[in-house]
Amino acid sequence: MSYLEFNMPMSSTCLIAYALHADTKRVLALGQGDWSLYIMRLFRLRLVKVLSEMPDPVIHHIEMCVFDAQDTLNRLKKFGFNLFAKRQTASCQQLVARLGTVFYLITERSLHYKPNSISKNVGDETVRTESFTTLCCEESPAHEVDTVFNLAFSVKKGDVIDISERICTHGGQIIQAPTEITEEKNGTVFFSIVKSNCCGNIVHTLINTDDYNGEFLPGFEIVNQCEFSNDLKICGIDHCTLACYSGNSGKVVSFYEECFGMNRFQITSNDDENNGLIISDGVGLRLRAMEYWRCAETGLSYKNKNENSFLLVVVESLQGQTNCNVEEFLRHHKEGIEHIALRSQSIVETVSKLKNNAVDFRNPPRAYYDELRNNLKISRLGLDLDLLSQFGILLDNEDDSADESGGSPEKKYLMQIFAKPLFDLKTFFIEIIQRSGARGLGSGNILALVRSIREEERRNMMKSEAKTQEITKESFTSPRHC
Ligand SMILES: [Fe+2]
Repeated sequence: MSYLEFNMPMSSTCLIAYALHADTKRVLALGQGDWSLYIMRLFRLRLVKVLSEMPDPVIHHIEMCVFDAQDTLNRLKKFGFNLFAKRQTASCQQLVARLGTVFYLITERSLHYKPNSISKNVGDETVRTESFTTLCCEESPAHEVDTVFNLAFSVKKGDVIDISERICTHGGQIIQAPTEITEEKNGTVFFSIVKSNCCGNIVHTLINTDDYNGEFLPGFEIVNQCEFSNDLKICGIDHCTLACYSGNSGKVVSFYEECFGMNRFQITSNDDENNGLIISDGVGLRLRAMEYWRCAETGLSYKNKNENSFLLVVVESLQGQTNCNVEEFLRHHKEGIEHIALRSQSIVETVSKLKNNAVDFRNPPRAYYDELRNNLKISRLGLDLDLLSQFGILLDNEDDSADESGGSPEKKYLMQIFAKPLFDLKTFFIEIIQRSGARGLGSGNILALVRSIREEERRNMMKSEAKTQEITKESFTSPRHC
């Protein structure tokens, strides 16, 4: 896919270096004047070859259904996204926002849309009248809540059929049966659209583009090539988190394991196979995660760790001990996609630029950084905590033990920050994450934040008590009260 040309992961840099090295002998045999031309041509050929052999990103695109597509595009522009493609159909207007390999499809239902008009009955069969169109509100009289609802996966050709069949068997629903769409100029896309029926309004478009050379999907007009400079240092999607009702996360995980062949992923050593990772102590959260790997030879699961793997996380409130963030999301949205984490190669650079673009982030209390400064394991990492504090970036250490060889342990940590909700309601938000050897989700940060909020409250209380005492003392000594 040509969009890989704009965003080169670290591993491909090594591959290109290797490819150039292999041709050194031939380069040396050339006359001096031919060198630069030869190297440039060779570099370009090798670059295109290496990039075209790399797997597509696991997530083809993420779709949101909104009341005002242009307004949502403007909100995404603050995160560095640009308008890339568009499409107008009878039922909706669609804009594609792109940042490197990350594509958001923004769908706005047409004002004249009539409920259920995207499908019609032909004989015994229900047929979709538009390819690739799904609306969160396609059966409703009106669009109700702006939502991120479609995680479109890039899959192998056979998986379009296999996963669709498995979803049917496990109580899901086929919205669009496996279908081929051919565009004269660019070839054929094979796809289906399925609904899980286990976690709110989430649907998945399963897409195979093996026989397609276009830049997005058939029917979309490319309006801007979005030359990508990678100034923002965003290199892809790291994970996606689904919020579900209390007691439901086990069912959601089973569904994705059985239908998509995803593997359970152990978030930390406390993550129990059956119960997930429970964070109580005033947080009231249960997390379960799964890993998805695109290049599997059999099914979708793959045990090798690679930067192209993707985590799907399911979060719920503990029964009798609810988590206010999850509950707030559920109150406004019901179950569904709560946040998407974008992976950064340099979170300080990313956040600094996004703040200049007026992106609003959640700020941790000052006490959070005081706790970090007093933590020996954190200080061993040698990071500039003042800089992290300046940008409100959280830091989670996974550097718990010595390595197996008994040597000094590898420094494993991650840094993350959460933006304020993208829409007007407190629902979907974007996270920025940078990993250095760490594979978790920053669960240590959740507890550290709770502790720091308590500490901050304690300090505020002490301040106000001190103030009251001062006023009381003053009231006894001030001549005004004599
Ligand atoms: Fe996250």
